[in-house]
Amino acid sequence: MKIKIINGPNLNLLGLREPDVYGAETLSDINDYIQSFCDEAEIEVNFSRSNHEGDIIDQIHQAHFDKFDGIVINAGAFTHYSYAIHDAISGIPVPTVEVHLSAIHQREEFRHKSVIAPACIGQISGFGKESYILGILALQNR
Ligand code: DQA
Repeated sequence: MKIKIINGPNLNLLGLREPDVYGAETLSDINDYIQSFCDEAEIEVNFSRSNHEGDIIDQIHQAHFDKFDGIVINAGAFTHYSYAIHDAISGIPVPTVEVHLSAIHQREEFRHKSVIAPACIGQISGFGKESYILGILALQNR
């Protein structure tokens, strides 16, 4: 099984960014944790990240052409307003799980709405780095 992890805007600032909300670990720490989990589970995993909407759309399309079996995406704030990312996910047959480190439904109102959720097979929010692992497990066990 081959899974693509896509991280969106501002997630490069993890560790520095609002540690009370997102924790003290960097994205590289989190990716190492995901990599170890996947090594153990014999899952091939590939990571990409961008602050730019178009790059994320290209990465979603490419995941299909590169024959990934699933995508786990943390689209950051794009989650709440990017119809283009919704359409990119809808446009390919690769099952996609939306994940968030923080509990988006317990935060500011603008975070309660995910416009990408209808294009995803499910949403996982509020479990820190475990949200990514839960997303991978959801894809593995479908
Ligand atoms: C986030 C939640 C979003 O609302 C926010 O804009 C982010 C991170 C999360 O992982 O909790 O950038 O996706």
